Amino acid sequence: MTTLLVDIRQLLNVRDDKAPLRGAALAQMPCIEDAWLLIEDGVIAGFGRMDELPANLKGHPDTVDAAQGLVLPAWCDSHTHIVFSGSRESEFVDKIRGLDYAEIARRGGGILNSARKLNETSEDELFRQSWKRVEEVARMGTGALEIKSGYGLCPEGELKMLRVVRRIRDRSPLEIRSTFLGAHAFPERFRDDRRGYIDEIVHGMLPVIAGEGLADFIDVFCEKGFFTVEESREICLAGMALGLRPKIHANQLHASGGVQLGVELGALSVDHLESLDDEAVAALASSGTVGTMLPTAAFFLRMPFPPARRLMEAGAAVALASDYNPGSSPSGNMNLVVSMACIGMRMLPEEAIQAATLNGACAMGLGDTLGSVAVGKKAHLILTEPLSSHAAIPYRFGRHSVRGTIFGMERRIDGE
Ligand code: NIG
Ligand code: FE
Repeated sequence: MTTLLVDIRQLLNVRDDKAPLRGAALAQMPCIEDAWLLIEDGVIAGFGRMDELPANLKGHPDTVDAAQGLVLPAWCDSHTHIVFSGSRESEFVDKIRGLDYAEIARRGGGILNSARKLNETSEDELFRQSWKRVEEVARMGTGALEIKSGYGLCPEGELKMLRVVRRIRDRSPLEIRSTFLGAHAFPERFRDDRRGYIDEIVHGMLPVIAGEGLADFIDVFCEKGFFTVEESREICLAGMALGLRPKIHANQLHASGGVQLGVELGALSVDHLESLDDEAVAALASSGTVGTMLPTAAFFLRMPFPPARRLMEAGAAVALASDYNPGSSPSGNMNLVVSMACIGMRMLPEEAIQAATLNGACAMGLGDTLGSVAVGKKAHLILTEPLSSHAAIPYRFGRHSVRGTIFGMERRIDGE
């Protein structure tokens, strides 16, 4: 099955790279003006300038008129907690009244609040709620999604979440990756027995999860009041021994040492990075680990944005993701993430778009098949409304310019 897109105003992020971009390469986004693109069986098969459209493609039976819209790789959202139950808008109001995130957590709110809700929700209902969110982000152009557990905090709850992720993966045209985050918080029943919960994660949950192939990656919330560096290391190593690559929640509220731990373990990514010291920046810059920044979470918690320019100038590979979750980022809108990165973190549109596509793909081990426009990569693409240039994507903040999406063999385009 082949599809031809014609009259594309700009084809963005045209490059063969499979590894994350850094430094000057991130600021350079190769584009083709006035382009066509051919898709064969869900894979990008060719592209070029309209005035060089091969004669045999003219009048192709399945032609989509891009009508001067832009075409770019679908967003690769490499950090989400999109499987959750209910919402936490009462904490949102508490925060407006002046409580901070750590204080809310100490009062049994936060992650433990979501864990209570999740453990009272059936697997089918959890799937129903989560599927709606996946559909919502897909409409806004997300074509690859990493999803974490971490609101079960007990074997049944964590397995329930990961089985829901598997159901999403089986049904969705999006590329889905799954992360076990049993070490998201200490549950109430282990409040005074940290060792007991770590043993449950390592000996009770991990073998079952790995045995059933329910997770690709392992994550730990390495943070004051949550998991120490030593505890995080032990849990990651246990996951790695079973074939799960680490991705670490690091340096969100404090310079926790989580970044250095991620680098030491060869983590795929270290995520958050609001609180960085020089040592953490240097460690990340000299490593192959991607630094994933989550500007909507920093915004929602009224925290300073991560120092994107400092990281990029030091030579670190950076990605952008939504952190979609009920506590710190109840939004999975990657268009808004890209805008906030430009406005709040002074990333150039080229840097932000590539950090949210190719570098995001690399942060979930998908750089060889997704994240850029290259022959042989999967055709997970966004078609925008008619726009004058790619800078209009972040410029039109708070809304999205997505006219349609193509995820392999599945296409949804307004007006078709
Ligand atoms: O990435 N930081 C830890 N985990 C989530 C928030 C989870 C929650 O508040 O429910 C985050 O921000
Ligand atoms: Fe998170």
